[in-house]
Amino acid sequence: NWTTTSVVEEQVAAIRAQVGTKRAICGLSGGVDSAVAAALVQKAIGDQLTCVYVDHGLMRKGESEQVEKDFVAATGVQLKVVDAEERFLTALAGVSDPEQKRKIIGREFIRVFEQAQAELVAEAGAEGEEVAFLVQGTLYPDIVESGGGTGTANIKSHHNVGGLPDDIEFELVEPLRQLFKDEVRMVGTELGLPEEIVQRQPFPGPGLGIRIVGEVTRERLDLLREADAIAREELTAAGLDREIWQCPVVLLADVRSVGVQGDGRTYGHPIVLRPVSSEDAMTADWTRMPYEVLARISTRITNEVADVNRVVLDVTSKPPGTIEWE
Ligand code: XMP
Repeated sequence: NWTTTSVVEEQVAAIRAQVGTKRAICGLSGGVDSAVAAALVQKAIGDQLTCVYVDHGLMRKGESEQVEKDFVAATGVQLKVVDAEERFLTALAGVSDPEQKRKIIGREFIRVFEQAQAELVAEAGAEGEEVAFLVQGTLYPDIVESGGGTGTANIKSHHNVGGLPDDIEFELVEPLRQLFKDEVRMVGTELGLPEEIVQRQPFPGPGLGIRIVGEVTRERLDLLREADAIAREELTAAGLDREIWQCPVVLLADVRSVGVQGDGRTYGHPIVLRPVSSEDAMTADWTRMPYEVLARISTRITNEVADVNRVVLDVTSKPPGTIEWE
């Protein structure tokens, strides 16, 4: 007998029982899952929760600002922002393998959290309340696809499950681990989170780091951020945000193709558009979206983003393709 009210009540009680009078931190990724997990835990333990937003430099355009302003405005939660761009880019330098990227990003996340924990404990001063819990917005499909949370990834190491290092110092609080995405959205609404947060399309924790096929560099990230912003702007303008589950925009950094732009030959990179329709991300189909919208996105990206001379459409369902390219 599933209702959002009963899920909220049940989870609030479970969180209180688990955390007691200790303190917890929650990483915010900008996505629905971590936002709803944080709101749920805040409802349960109030000021014992501090949210930590790690700006890993792999976010999309405007995303950090959105977390820093909108989420705090909606929840009044205590927020600590950590600028870790340099650290993540250094750790990712020279790495092209998708699983290795995921592991590195997961590891660095935890290290940054541990640092944030130490700082929070220091700030708490003589009282020294223990910060022992780490809240994560892990969903049921994340657990299934990461091999049951055992650390043995059978599909991908979602950074919040199989990608965690073994020597983690926190006890995990995962109030969404039995839920699917649509249920998480209902819980978010029940908790009073605004539409813009609750209806946000999914975005992976490792961010743009797994949407650059090849090595992740700041220049490539900047380029992808521009292309992604254009695609999102046009999809929103066309009113497709609800119909499309999400539309990863992927940079094939290791591929070049010949083009002709302005008055000369170019040798640039392709951008892949991956619009998918789905119920729960376990399976998906490519979205049959209007050609005019695709045309506008393609024209704008090739005109406005330097070094991109080709835009291609991914017409693969899941399975056999996954939603993300890595
Ligand atoms: P795939 O690529 O496995 O993606 O078909 C399924 C859904 O999960 C998202 N995704 C992630 N979310 N951490 C997350 O929080 C991750 O490491 C991660 N990897 C993929 C993806 O965007 C899609 O919605």
